[in-house]
Amino acid sequence: MIFETHAHYDDESFNDDREELLNSMQAHGIGSVINVSADLGSLDRTKNLMEAYPFIYGAMGLHPDEVGDMNEDVIEKIRTLCRLEKTVAVGEIGLDYYWNKEDHETQRYWFRRQLELAREEKLPVIIHSREAAADTLQVMKDCRAGEIGGVLHCFSYSKEMAKEYLNMGLYLGIGGVLTFKNARKLLEVVEYAPLDRLLLETDSPYLAPVPYRGKRNSSLYLPLVVQKIAEIKQISPEKVTEQTEENAVRLFLRNRA
Ligand code: NI
Repeated sequence: MIFETHAHYDDESFNDDREELLNSMQAHGIGSVINVSADLGSLDRTKNLMEAYPFIYGAMGLHPDEVGDMNEDVIEKIRTLCRLEKTVAVGEIGLDYYWNKEDHETQRYWFRRQLELAREEKLPVIIHSREAAADTLQVMKDCRAGEIGGVLHCFSYSKEMAKEYLNMGLYLGIGGVLTFKNARKLLEVVEYAPLDRLLLETDSPYLAPVPYRGKRNSSLYLPLVVQKIAEIKQISPEKVTEQTEENAVRLFLRNRA
């Protein structure tokens, strides 16, 4: 079954039909979901979701846009949440030089701090990086992120950059962007990267694949991404589903429930 490695089902855009939608996942071939926290409020909401649904796991951390709310008390709160049985990663954490909500130095400080936390808690990381290719790679290398393990979520950089992360033993998160008309760079990355290093993800409610681009996304659209990867790799969609699920289990569930 499909392993969805990045969704935000605590987002308010799911308030009207969250339960119905989540209850329909398994019947549509979605076997597991990681709900990824981003801001302070979503830490507890992610905890609630993973307690309510057997197939939902959680990632705990603050997104680079949100690190203005960060301090050592919040780090300790995240640490406590990391110790819950169904927490499988620290994330999403990283650098965002597109929105630039916090200055770069502040972003880098809390990115490093959360990487350290992941190392201490022996959890892999889910990395958000936008328009910050060079600095993200630098921090990842400085913190020896290859030893921590993790995924570059919604990978948006070049094949050369993909090679750097693959050499560190990290995974690439692939979602709806692959179906966009202007996805040439990402097509090259998916063609180049070994299938055993790719993970399926949506970033729901964002980044819905064609023909739903611009609408609210959900894991139910992941077969469109599977189909596209299968075309690029010239293999069956079943193989893509099976291998990416195995990858997610290897990365996130190795020592977990
Ligand atoms: Ni996200």
